[in-house]
Amino acid sequence: MGIQTVGVLGCGLMGAGIAQVCAQAGYRTVIREVDEGLLTKGLGRIDKSLAAGVEKGKLTRKARDEARGNLTGTTSFEELGPCDLVIEAIVENLHAKREAFTALEAAVGEHTIFLSNTSSLCITEIAAATKRPDRCGGLHFFNPVPVMKLVEVVRALPTSDKTFGTVFSFAQSLGKEPITAPDRPGFIVNRLLVPYLLEAIRVYERGLATAEDIDKGMTLGCGHPMGPLTLLDFVGLDTTYYIAEIMFQEFKEPAYAPPPLLKRMVLAGRLGRKSGRGFYEY
Ligand code: CAA
Ligand code: NAD
Repeated sequence: MGIQTVGVLGCGLMGAGIAQVCAQAGYRTVIREVDEGLLTKGLGRIDKSLAAGVEKGKLTRKARDEARGNLTGTTSFEELGPCDLVIEAIVENLHAKREAFTALEAAVGEHTIFLSNTSSLCITEIAAATKRPDRCGGLHFFNPVPVMKLVEVVRALPTSDKTFGTVFSFAQSLGKEPITAPDRPGFIVNRLLVPYLLEAIRVYERGLATAEDIDKGMTLGCGHPMGPLTLLDFVGLDTTYYIAEIMFQEFKEPAYAPPPLLKRMVLAGRLGRKSGRGFYEY
């Protein structure tokens, strides 16, 4: 497969988890954040997760130290130079992602594969902004990354068979279960999940049920590990709002339209767990 060094752009909720699983799988992993403060916060998130693994007896101290030893943090693109594959996990915004890949392209070698962890954006549109569209694809992880087994491997129109095969094997080497997903908004899982989450907000917004009862309905009635409003707080209401906007723009179907309450909660800074308040307080 030839992948030895992996780059991760962004060390937020998803980037931290992605970097952790790459480092645990034995890859040298370089994480890039925009400033030192966010980098320290993101690396702290990984340390906490690894420490929890040791505490629960799921990880030996040696494995934790090896994983930590595989991780390097940086705020520069230059340090991503040796990467064979880079996974982007920054804000869900096409312009920001294209800009990041343009900066990355100046730092890495010809062979480096560019992957996006986008939830909803068009992979072909991201790839088209690079000089290596055949070496671009999507690799969509699920939150929390160290726990969720699935990854969607997205084959865009320009993705070569060689790139797709390498990425599929790479996903397996992380201990994940890959599925082949189409380059359509939301791929497979979010195409089904996002309308459900947005409908839960509409039920709440219309005063049809309390947040607690909506969540209880889906956990106790359908066996979901989390109710939809708890899950929205977990994913981040800002990220969900961007995803809904992107999917609605592409499909023009009301099921994907962000409910007015979602937009207002984001504008008010109620982003879910990450800001201490969403549908619930944390
Ligand atoms: N890092 C590492 N391990 C974690 C973790 C984290 N961040 N969070 C939980 N875990 C582990 C715990 O250590 C625990 O492990 P053991 O069973 O071995 O002790 C296990 O996961 C279960 O955790 P808890 O007992 O603390 O809590 P729980 O039973 O409520 O499970 C959960 C937590 C796994 C998050 C579960 O509630 C769940 O599966 N929720 C739904 C998550 C989901 O739907 N994710 C997809 C979101 S959509 C998405 O990601 C795509 C997108 O583009 C938006
Ligand atoms: P987040 O806001 O927690 O983290 C994003 C991080 O990227 C921030 O720390 C930010 O400082 C950093 N960043 C921004 N621009 C950067 C750049 N140019 N270089 C390096 N770092 C940069 O967001 P998140 O929830 O981790 O989502 C990241 C991506 O993953 C989005 O595309 C999102 O749609 C996708 N995703 C999210 C979830 C989820 O449950 N939250 C699940 C699957 C996929």
